[in-house]
Amino acid sequence: MIINDLQKEKIFSLVRECGKVMLSAHDLENNAETISEKYGTANFVTVFDVKVQNMLISGLLDIVPGAHFIAEEKDNAEIDLSDGICFIIDPIDGTANFIHDLQASAVSVGFFYDGEPVFSLIFDPYRDEMFYASKGEGAFLNGRPIHVSSRNLDKAMTAFGTSPYNRDTLGDITFAIAKSLYMRTADLRRTGAAAIDLCNVACGRTDVFFEVILSPWDFAGGWLIISEAGGKLTDFNGKTPVFSKPSSVLCTNGSLHEEVLDILKTTEEEFYGR
Ligand code: IPD
Ligand code: CA
Ligand code: CA
Repeated sequence: MIINDLQKEKIFSLVRECGKVMLSAHDLENNAETISEKYGTANFVTVFDVKVQNMLISGLLDIVPGAHFIAEEKDNAEIDLSDGICFIIDPIDGTANFIHDLQASAVSVGFFYDGEPVFSLIFDPYRDEMFYASKGEGAFLNGRPIHVSSRNLDKAMTAFGTSPYNRDTLGDITFAIAKSLYMRTADLRRTGAAAIDLCNVACGRTDVFFEVILSPWDFAGGWLIISEAGGKLTDFNGKTPVFSKPSSVLCTNGSLHEEVLDILKTTEEEFYGR
């Protein structure tokens, strides 16, 4: 076994400790020294993102010695995902929500072996919701099995991400796709945390999620949870995304996947004038 039950239990405890650190943060906007800006537009990092990432990396190394890490707040240039054990980590997904105290952020951890997803967990400490999946064993929320919805397109709730750090180049196409889906589905939602968006599809609260570009740590943990819950996560060409590179992401309840891929394709063709 690549990872055993005791190791998994220890990882759950570690991620819960990270959640406590997130819950201890208040009023970040009025403490300017806790926030700094990264590449792109309105892309912030807080001292809490870094603290949680450090806790995860040192804690996971104690549990799984020799593991490698792809994580948002570090340099990942030298990491070869296809070689042995690698964790892909988003210490705080939904950092803008976190800064605004919107209480919709999560820790996302994916365990990969030779490039394949094996075990993953996403923890939202505000709702005390632990989503997790192991390959071939199903997906769970706080111990209960979860499954995607069976809604048709006209009843589907569509969530989307706005690719905020690339809005100059991707803002218009994002809203063109959002408009196409808005006209064909029940309504749109924007939570501000891709990891939570994926879990919401996995447990049937929503039915479709898209974002024109996401980083591996945004979708790596969610991929296995969605797959094990009976849904589908691909890029906009219908292919499994590469877990070491940024990618477009379409996540659905599975039965809607081809229909929504067609809508994406038609919208992109109209938008780019092909
Ligand atoms: C962001 C969130 C957001 C999505 C962005 C992501 P971060 O992650 O998931 O919902 O729209 O594309 O980068 O920066 O808060 O970890
Ligand atoms: Ca993220
Ligand atoms: Ca993050």
